[in-house]
Amino acid sequence: MKNILITGGAGFIGSHVVRLFVQNYPQYHIYNLDVLTYAGNLKNLTDIESASNYTFIKADINDGDLMEEIMVKHAIDGVIHLAAESHVDRSISDPMAFVRTNIIGTVNLLNAARKAWGADMSDKRFYHVSTDEVYGSLDNGGFFTETTSYDPQSPYSASKAGSDHFVRAYHNTYKLPVVISNCSNNYGPNQFPEKLIPLTINNILNNKPLPVYGKGENVRDWLYVVDHARAIDQVFHQGVFGETYNIGGFNEWKNIDIVQLICDIMDKKLGKAEGSSRQLITFVTDRAGHDLRYAIDAQKIMKDLGWQPSLQFEEGIDKTIDWYLANKTWMEEVTSGSYQEYYSQHYS
Ligand code: NAD
Ligand code: DAU
Repeated sequence: MKNILITGGAGFIGSHVVRLFVQNYPQYHIYNLDVLTYAGNLKNLTDIESASNYTFIKADINDGDLMEEIMVKHAIDGVIHLAAESHVDRSISDPMAFVRTNIIGTVNLLNAARKAWGADMSDKRFYHVSTDEVYGSLDNGGFFTETTSYDPQSPYSASKAGSDHFVRAYHNTYKLPVVISNCSNNYGPNQFPEKLIPLTINNILNNKPLPVYGKGENVRDWLYVVDHARAIDQVFHQGVFGETYNIGGFNEWKNIDIVQLICDIMDKKLGKAEGSSRQLITFVTDRAGHDLRYAIDAQKIMKDLGWQPSLQFEEGIDKTIDWYLANKTWMEEVTSGSYQEYYSQHYS
């Protein structure tokens, strides 16, 4: 039996990682550590919450002593660290929350792992889940590789870059057995509707304007969340210590094209007149410092670890929209209360 600590497991990507590990590894005990911010939701995990190899721990990674206590108490062998403040727009209005959780919280976990594991770190591993945004912004050519220099442009990406540097520093200095991955934009079930795709779906359902920043020309590389979870499984088990793996879908879309695609699919599914949802598209003030384009070169993980995305985008986006249509109560619950306040402040 191995004891694996997954941080941020009640969030979007974390919940898919927790489910995959609980279901595929009955020989592991999975501890899901999450403080349940606005983005954390235990309803993402109702299907596995009573599994005998699963325990939820409500705790804050900003509490360093508590992290060490938990690592020792549960004899943690491996950490998969996803807990973070994850939304770029929120990092522009409140950067300190990102410094605290993404940088200090990560260093707290590194310290806790060092202390709990002592000198014998054979069979231990610390996996830090990061983002392609640390590499900055591309113009219309080229890809981010694992050796691209860091050039973060937003408080969010700067905080993730800082955390990546600390993880590498703990490997170089203290020989902590670490692996890092940097992934492109995820989409799929359970994503909080502050992010482009679920926000667009939710606003179409509610006949509200669809806010597109600037001219909608910015490009993102989209990957289905379950394919990211599968990649995390492979990096956790087969990744070489000290190495970085880029994860992406080779699937670039301009924001305006993706919003129009969602409009057209939803018009069909909802039986609305062709073109009617497109009329909701509203161009709004651009995000400050908006990165033009992200595009990941994922050849290393494909060649070294044999990972491949399993879904084509057309299938993935269809499944995603179906999930939101079948889970309207989930959406209603997460968009009640503080979401309304955030929404009216941000888009006013
Ligand atoms: P999310 O915002 O949906 O979930 C984050 C989770 O972390 C939430 O459950 C939240 O409650 C928890 N959390 C936040 N602060 C915490 C704290 N102080 N202590 C304990 N738990 C805390 O984020 P996500 O989109 O699922 O992203 C997960 C990770 O993957 C992040 O590290 C993010 O940087 C990275 N990532 C995300 C994407 C993407 O497209 N969403 C792409 C690449 C990498
Ligand atoms: O690239 C990986 C990153 O992808 C992750 O590290 C982040 O955690 C995740 O939030 C995501 O960041 P983005 O900023 O790319 O995602 P978001 O969904 O916020 O925005 C996607 C694009 O859509 C971006 O160019 C901004 C634009 N956008 C977003 C919103 C919320 C709009 O045009 N309108 C909107 O209302």
